[in-house]
Amino acid sequence: MTESAGTVDRRGHLLTLEGGEGVGKSTNLACIEALLRAHGLDVCVTREPGGTPIGEAIRGLLLAEGPTAPSAMAELLLIFAARAQHIQDVIEPALAAGRWVLCDRFTDATYAYQGFARGLSLDAIATLELLVQGQVRPSFSVLLDLPPSVGLERASQRAALDRFEVEGEQFFNRVREGYLSRTTLEPDRWLVVDASQSLKQVQDQLIEGLTPWMQAHVDQ
Ligand code: TMP
Repeated sequence: MTESAGTVDRRGHLLTLEGGEGVGKSTNLACIEALLRAHGLDVCVTREPGGTPIGEAIRGLLLAEGPTAPSAMAELLLIFAARAQHIQDVIEPALAAGRWVLCDRFTDATYAYQGFARGLSLDAIATLELLVQGQVRPSFSVLLDLPPSVGLERASQRAALDRFEVEGEQFFNRVREGYLSRTTLEPDRWLVVDASQSLKQVQDQLIEGLTPWMQAHVDQ
């Protein structure tokens, strides 16, 4: 990557990590980050909902159970409000500077959770996606795929469950269906990894699947 007068001549890439509950996102996010850094890439790791002070405040509202729980439509709009701020303050500046952004969840989660699982209109989500994101889209996405019965069992071992994690298996079956349908719409963008395997097998597949794509895009 060449640099002149404070600008770079190539934009970075947005990579996203997706999956239902208990699929091992945190551990595997660290694995992907380490892989990118090992190839000398300047990486910005962030998450949704969150990634900015406003986004983290919205995350608090979204995850808390009780009287502040939003309706499904309010939830959708809060998620896109957080995303608008995240893109303006973090994602777009990083991409413009040629950095690679690794984001723990992005808009595919909105299609899966708010669209498929909550039953909100996929067309409405697509309209908000265009309005809020303009041309910002992930270049590459990883889906950690796991039957919800297994994921929920893993998630239940955590200290406290948030407002999404307390949803039942049917909800997460729809989340999974949503994610899998996203992968069939754009198969070239996705690496789908069976997260029921051992951590070593999952990470071997991540490295094997991501490395050629990364190498092909480092100088593009
Ligand atoms: P986390 O599990 O990655 O910490 O994310 C918190 C929750 O936010 C998770 O249960 C999924 C939910 N979520 C949505 O429902 N829609 C979205 O667009 C995003 C980014 C997350």
